[in-house]
Amino acid sequence: MRAEVTAHRDYTVSQIDDRLYSAFLEHLGRAIYTGIYEPGHPTADKNGMRGDVAQLVRDLKIPYVRYPGGNFVSAYNWEDGVGPREQRPTRLDLAWHTSDSNAVGVHEFIDWCDTVDTKPMLAINLGSRGLDEARNFVEYVNGPTGSYWGDMRKKNGRAEPFDVRLWCLGNEMDGPWQVGHKTADEYGRLANETAKTLRAFDKKLELVVCGSSHSDMATYPEWERVVLEHTYDTVDHISLHMYFNNRANHTPNYLAMNAKLDRYIGTVASTINYVKGKKRSKKNVTISFDEWNVWYHSNQADRVILDGNSGWPHAPRLLEDAYNFEDVLQVGCIINTFIRRSDVVRIACIAQLVNVIAPILTEPGGPAWKQTIYYPYYFASVYGRGTALNLKVDSPGYDAEIADNVSYLDISGVHDDAAKTITFFAVNRNDKEALELSVDLQGFGKTARVIDHQVVAHSDLKIANTLKNQNAVAPAKGTGTAVDGTMLTGKLAPYSYHMIRVQLA
Ligand code: AHR
Repeated sequence: MRAEVTAHRDYTVSQIDDRLYSAFLEHLGRAIYTGIYEPGHPTADKNGMRGDVAQLVRDLKIPYVRYPGGNFVSAYNWEDGVGPREQRPTRLDLAWHTSDSNAVGVHEFIDWCDTVDTKPMLAINLGSRGLDEARNFVEYVNGPTGSYWGDMRKKNGRAEPFDVRLWCLGNEMDGPWQVGHKTADEYGRLANETAKTLRAFDKKLELVVCGSSHSDMATYPEWERVVLEHTYDTVDHISLHMYFNNRANHTPNYLAMNAKLDRYIGTVASTINYVKGKKRSKKNVTISFDEWNVWYHSNQADRVILDGNSGWPHAPRLLEDAYNFEDVLQVGCIINTFIRRSDVVRIACIAQLVNVIAPILTEPGGPAWKQTIYYPYYFASVYGRGTALNLKVDSPGYDAEIADNVSYLDISGVHDDAAKTITFFAVNRNDKEALELSVDLQGFGKTARVIDHQVVAHSDLKIANTLKNQNAVAPAKGTGTAVDGTMLTGKLAPYSYHMIRVQLA
């Protein structure tokens, strides 16, 4: 089976916003407690933050981490998480039927961001709370001393404003499961008034308004139209979420799911343009895809806690999906879609980062390790910076439930002009046949050579990296990929993921 690709230097999608490789941490299960924070762990720092986890996070070079939710944020009082720890209240978390000691709050989170070289993207509670708490929170985080909230922050140990630039106006407000769920008109009005108020404090904040929780919502895409008609002039991004599953255990259908993601992005991009046209606006609102991942492996196990049959446990094992090799291929295809739509998707957050549907797992008191999906996320985040190329792809395909003629080759390409490299991320979605890949590199000069080729492949689609077998799935060096003149050639084994880097002269 052959696939022919053309990459031209001038045929581009967009300069990729680095924030495409962001992540998400929620007060949920063990994401925070025994995830990033575990005082007493052998690797913990003076703040109780796990050093082993911090290193795995740092290696991912994550630009932003969204916090503290998620569904959790819609009943969260940010004030509970500031001030002396011993005085912080333990609260019931209504989203996940657990309790939270509030030992970690906004100070600890932002300090942790500093230690792992990332930046915070904070979410505001617009479910159980409203405009006044929103402005208080933003003033507490960013306001000057000499004012009520700035002075309180100083008293709590931080005189300098945190200067957080990126704020989410609530979470999944279209979802009936959300505390404080609203209609599009109710939410649109509240989000607009909140955005106006926050801008009165600081014009330059970047604000994200809630779009649909997923594209199967009955209110989608009308939700986007109505919410944007209320907020177009006051926000910068509209947030989308999507989770993928292979409950049907049908791998070809599962691996075609990014066609649905692509359609979702396209529809919302059109809705943005519609509202822009209607408003005669010259401003471009873009997409913050601030929750995406595979999520289904743990669904059944989680029911006991979510149904309230375990009381209100603190930091139980929840949403601890054990990812398998098949999920590597899926995550590779999802990230490729974001790169190909990077003209409109400016921010994307893998959901989540540690323990909860995450690329990193930990054992309390024990090790932290990389799940299978760590690898495609790592390769894209580290090497996927630059300009997304608009590749011409000619590959055989197959008919799937979600779309016809789904290309066996899923590929994206990124040109880094400064480093003089082109990096390709490719997935062969064929289970039986290898793909003979050729990429014609046009306009990049004559000499080029392959400087790295990493492959993630395994004969067992369902194998996962577990506590006992942490490296069952890991990248290996690829062989046989080469550039001759302007032609890059290589062979992609059945069901395999690839990162291929080409150095230009
Ligand atoms: O990431 C898990 C949950 O998924 C989030 O809390 C919520 O926003 C979404 O439904």
